[in-house]
Amino acid sequence: MLAAVWLALAACFLAALLALRVPPLKRSPGDLSLNLAGIFQDLLRYGKTKAACGQRPAFLQIFDVPKRWFYHFYIVSVIWNGFLLLLFIQSVLFSHPFPSWLQDLLDLLDGAKEDRGIPHSQNGAEFLSSFLVCLLVWVNSCRRLKECLHISVYSEGVIHFAHYCFGFFYYVLVGFTVLCQVPAKSREGKAHSLTVRWYHVLGLVMFCWASVHQHRCHIILANLRKDKSGKVSSLDHSIPFGDWFEMVSSPHYFAEFLIYTSMAVTFGFNNLTWWLVVTYVFFNQAVSAVLCHEYYLNKFKHYPKYRKAYIPFIF
Ligand SMILES: NC(=O)c1ccc[n+]([C@@H]2O[C@H](COP(=O)([O-])OP(=O)(O)OC[C@H]3O[C@@H](n4cnc5c(N)ncnc54)[C@H](OP(=O)(O)O)[C@@H]3O)[C@@H](O)[C@H]2O)c1
Repeated sequence: MLAAVWLALAACFLAALLALRVPPLKRSPGDLSLNLAGIFQDLLRYGKTKAACGQRPAFLQIFDVPKRWFYHFYIVSVIWNGFLLLLFIQSVLFSHPFPSWLQDLLDLLDGAKEDRGIPHSQNGAEFLSSFLVCLLVWVNSCRRLKECLHISVYSEGVIHFAHYCFGFFYYVLVGFTVLCQVPAKSREGKAHSLTVRWYHVLGLVMFCWASVHQHRCHIILANLRKDKSGKVSSLDHSIPFGDWFEMVSSPHYFAEFLIYTSMAVTFGFNNLTWWLVVTYVFFNQAVSAVLCHEYYLNKFKHYPKYRKAYIPFIF
């Protein structure tokens, strides 16, 4: 069921990405499909790319929520994924089973996992993968929360209320997805070994590398709005330079894709459900990156020509 949800979400954002590539048709005012196109754009765009659409109909503005509320997502994620991490730690240290209500819920989401007779060491490697990914999701949420509260400088940009609600659902679903990858024996507190594999190390190194670059990009964006003394001097949008901004318009979105890919590496490259999460993140961030690139090209005449939108040297 979880894999189907992630596949459906990825398909929605792929469809949105393709729809953005279709030139708008000329239609008469009041045409229902034109209104639908407007609602579609309003759902998809947020922050500066929504503001660039100019004056929006009043009925659409009812659903506006401040973009600076992004930090609410990370508070929920830090608490929820922190709780799951605590369950993992109790399982490792004291062989505690996950609470029965959670085991029932995981069985419902992912089907009751039978003992597949996998070797003890493989069981230990899968358990360690899930534990590490839970830790990475939590660490990432803590960093993003700190950035939202103490680094990023927000303007009066808005997001759609549906987008706001989806943000909470997303971080809770990510936690459930990680937990569903825990082998059945370990969920019941019966197998407690941890087996280290080379891909755990590779995943951690990749996670740190992508996180450092994303953090640098968030600092560069924040500094665009500060003077030399570090005081906020403007809420305008200007051209960012430095680090991966030299290659793409939205390196923080590219780094997000790498962060989720690093988790797929930590799972040993062969976890289909997590690759569907990565696919969803890829298309979700691609939509934002394409809109952001289009915004910069329209706003700045001398925008660097060599910069791609999202993936260095590709697009
Ligand atoms: N995993 C997911 O599904 C997911 C979804 C969304 C976001 N994220 C991650 O969350 C992070 C933030 O995303 P975001 O969409 O909020 O990024 P963003 O639109 O680039 O905004 C980040 C910050 O930089 C400011 N900013 C953006 N462009 C600017 C410019 N040209 N000049 C000056 N300031 C500028 C924004 O202010 P404003 O208030 O003016 O916008 C905001 O404070 C990213 O790393 C992204 O990968 C992840």
